[in-house]
Amino acid sequence: MKSKHLVNIADLPREDVEEILRTAHKMKADHKKGKKDLCLAGKTLGMIFEKPSLRTRVSFEVGMSQLGGQTIYLSKDDIKIGKRESPIDVARVISRYLDGLMMRTFSHEIIVIFAEHATVPIINGLSDYVHPCQALGDLFTIQEQKGDLSAIKAAFVGDGNNVARSLAFACAKLGVSLALSSPKGHELDEQTMKIAEDITEREGCVRLVGDPQAAVRGADVVYTDVWASMGQEDEAKKREQVFRRYRVDAKLMSKAKKDAIFMHCLPAHRGEEVTDEVLDSPQSVVLDQAENRMHVQKAILKLLMS
Ligand code: CP
Ligand code: NVA
Repeated sequence: MKSKHLVNIADLPREDVEEILRTAHKMKADHKKGKKDLCLAGKTLGMIFEKPSLRTRVSFEVGMSQLGGQTIYLSKDDIKIGKRESPIDVARVISRYLDGLMMRTFSHEIIVIFAEHATVPIINGLSDYVHPCQALGDLFTIQEQKGDLSAIKAAFVGDGNNVARSLAFACAKLGVSLALSSPKGHELDEQTMKIAEDITEREGCVRLVGDPQAAVRGADVVYTDVWASMGQEDEAKKREQVFRRYRVDAKLMSKAKKDAIFMHCLPAHRGEEVTDEVLDSPQSVVLDQAENRMHVQKAILKLLMS
């Protein structure tokens, strides 16, 4: 892998994305066979969490332990980046102890600053801008379920936020067709769409489609995320009204292909962006998605840290 960090999929060469996915498939298969891989023995990954997490924290901790390494969990009150000490100083000091650092922050800028000043790999575990580990895990899950990505038609219905943005960058990188449908004012911004266009070899593969039914028609994959993300709790009530038409229910799923899969990064707000009926249906692959986060992150850790 050429890249030193994983901050944003838009910055990775296509070969790095392909290498992560290839490595992850091999590592998952080996893991299921009971084969041990202790490539990170004696290494330590720091994990800074300014926001809560179930999947990211547990999958990184278990992943590191399976690779023979260990983790240190640091909550926002432990370091107080920017309040107790400048981000640059924290990045330089922490590099003297750790072999890698995963960061979940509000500000994406902080992760970019860390990547500039740390001397160890920085991995973005979600910022307000993107969630690259999620998008890589999602492409892995689509490959596992459907095979060849180039034939896939994916649809994202809901908030044009971090999860949608990194999915758009990942799909653009690999030329996967993705139609995104969001309420007016909540679409991915123009600059994001421009970046997606600039990084793709398949023009127009990532596009905005206003009507959710039109976006989902004939899709192999239907994806959604919460309507109010972490940090937007105050807007939740207002967003419920605005997003109502964008709920993924059985009727919307019926517009997709018969064998379409339903995806969600989780946590889900049941009855809001997705109904129980869809989330718990045989089409739903959300638990595979959650598990695959770990296999893909193990590949990222191995490629960046070993
Ligand atoms: N999907 C995801 O990142 O979940 P957590 O917020 O629980 O880590
Ligand atoms: N968009 C959601 C994703 C959670 C994994 C959030 O940022 O809260």
